[in-house]
Amino acid sequence: MSAPRPLRVSWERLEGRLEALGEIGSTGDGGCARLALTDADKEGRDLVVSWMEDLGLRVDIDGIGNVVGTWPPDATEQPVMTGSHIDTVRTGGRYDGNLGVLAGLEAIETIVTSGARPEHPLAVGFFTNEEGSRFAPDMFGSLVFVGGLPLEEALDVVAVDGAVAGDELERIGYIGPMPCPARPPRAFVELHIEQGPVLEAGGETIGVVTGVQGISWQEITITGQSNHAGTTPMDHRHDPSFAAASITTFVRALATELGPPQVATVGRVELHPNLVNVVPARATLTVDLRNTDEHVLQGAEARLAAHCEDLAEAEGVIIERKTLARFEPVAFDPEMVDRVERVAVAHGHRVRRMPSGAGHDAQMLARVCPTSMIFTPSIGGISHNPAERTHPADLEAGANVLLDVLCELAGVVAP
Ligand code: GLV
Ligand code: MN
Ligand code: MN
Repeated sequence: MSAPRPLRVSWERLEGRLEALGEIGSTGDGGCARLALTDADKEGRDLVVSWMEDLGLRVDIDGIGNVVGTWPPDATEQPVMTGSHIDTVRTGGRYDGNLGVLAGLEAIETIVTSGARPEHPLAVGFFTNEEGSRFAPDMFGSLVFVGGLPLEEALDVVAVDGAVAGDELERIGYIGPMPCPARPPRAFVELHIEQGPVLEAGGETIGVVTGVQGISWQEITITGQSNHAGTTPMDHRHDPSFAAASITTFVRALATELGPPQVATVGRVELHPNLVNVVPARATLTVDLRNTDEHVLQGAEARLAAHCEDLAEAEGVIIERKTLARFEPVAFDPEMVDRVERVAVAHGHRVRRMPSGAGHDAQMLARVCPTSMIFTPSIGGISHNPAERTHPADLEAGANVLLDVLCELAGVVAP
């Protein structure tokens, strides 16, 4: 008797769905803008939900708009879960988050249509506002899902454009009755593009993700003295624009001094009134600090705070700092990490164990159930950019590793 043929995803079906979802909020240059809880996000959600329903999954929506599709639809036991997010940054690509959701759907479709009967239920979800570009903190959908943030607090979050999360959820029709926090899944595994250059440089196809580095986001507001650019002598200035630039160069120097894996980014700077001939009254900027070592990350935060104090004194400005997001580094479950590695090696892939530089919903799920992640390479290490690409063969390889990890966890035997 010959061994059963292994299940394999349909790349054509997965690619078609990635392309169809990528058309929603298309920026016309290969990229996507589907900021959380916007009309484009709603359109993307509706499309993915329609695919879940076509497959016969039970679709549940919770109070923060997280969507979970479960097979079999009458399951009561906690599922083995996969998924990610479908919101994007304003200049996003087509794979960040979307791959994990659609490959998860594809894996479940492959299992369901094969006639195999999983011993445990399977679920694929997408979580609200993973990106955090519109509402802070990032990943607040999965954070509420695991009980790390009260629902009411998340609903009250105000977006950078002034909208309130709860109002937006209601407007797009994505407040549902599934309780949150949810019952913890049996296990969670997320497929995602790497979004950095490491796998490509090493010639590896699969990243076995060991954990996620710590994330510290702050919004810094600097208030000075607005005045005439031509008449105000340099030694009379209290200039928020200069102070913002000083903070930007400080965090770059700090990250260089601390060395890898410390990274530091000033991603948003706004000046008011933002005119050529006016010393600004106010500057607002964001600082994103990340490190796999919590102790070093705390040290970087303390050094930034001290710099802001010295700068406020020297320039005669007021500097206020507000935390937008703060997550400690996360280590994934060792057995789940080993499982991903074993499956990827069995598929014949070159693999690398690595921490994630980006934040992911999996880091929240790791609080409540055994969790791991699978990475596929990013061409040129480019992400959060319309030019974000991964070779189709690598996307397919990642989806098949995900499929087999799910099959193992859910006790699926190929028919
Ligand atoms: C989410 O994409 C992040 O900023 O890591
Ligand atoms: Mn992502
Ligand atoms: Mn992202």
